[in-house]
Amino acid sequence: MQMSNIARHIAIIMDGNGRWANERGLKRVKGHERGAEAVRTITTYASNHPEIDVLTLYAFSTENWKRPKMEVDFLMRLLNNYLKNEMETYIRHQIRFETIGDISRFSSALQDRIAKTKEATKRFSKLTQVLALNYGSQDEIARAARTMCDRGESITVESLEKRIESSKFGPVDILIRTGGEQRLSNFLLWQSAYAELFFTPTLWPDFNPDELERIIEEFKKRQRRFGGI
Ligand code: IPE
Ligand code: IPE
Ligand code: MG
Repeated sequence: MQMSNIARHIAIIMDGNGRWANERGLKRVKGHERGAEAVRTITTYASNHPEIDVLTLYAFSTENWKRPKMEVDFLMRLLNNYLKNEMETYIRHQIRFETIGDISRFSSALQDRIAKTKEATKRFSKLTQVLALNYGSQDEIARAARTMCDRGESITVESLEKRIESSKFGPVDILIRTGGEQRLSNFLLWQSAYAELFFTPTLWPDFNPDELERIIEEFKKRQRRFGGI
């Protein structure tokens, strides 16, 4: 009998905030605000889910710097406020906060806030919430390869994987993209080698635990062969 699939690591491309706002005649940033609320709801739900150990959320890509400065600035402020306001949630639900991506381009105040949140939550283990911040998978793989070249290390799948920052959170089991587009936009390319993919038209601010649960149910029915028969 086939063992049931375990939804250990869920990764989400949280897309559609801007369209959510446009549909309501609101400014794009309002969509990001509502998106942050969805982050809280889904994270809290995941922390109480028996199977989910890791929730990786794509919050800002290496390509998102191309957006108008006003929107980028807003996203940075929103992240800072989110981390400040959510400390209580991290503690109450015993959620460990982690990040992937190159945060050295963020303001020192924001880098500080990120470091403090990591430090304050590092003992928790009910769920690890990983925010992908200034994250790009190609950038990450290139950085890992560069380090290995500089150190004269030989490159194998195993050795390269160890050097890829985000691989410490393990392979992705379920990769969800909200907002209707069917592409990966440079997210977790290495870790998603055998992820089960789910694309939903739901815009991120409207994504809720019921829909996540339906996706997990569907995931349970899929046959993961990993190249076998
Ligand atoms: C995703 O929503 C959030 C970020 C990329 C920060 P978008 O802002 O991309 O929303 P759409 O795709 O324009 O609707
Ligand atoms: C992907 O969404 C990045 C995040 C959700 C942070 P985008 O809206 O930036 O992706 P594209 O431009 O549609 O590929
Ligand atoms: Mg988008």
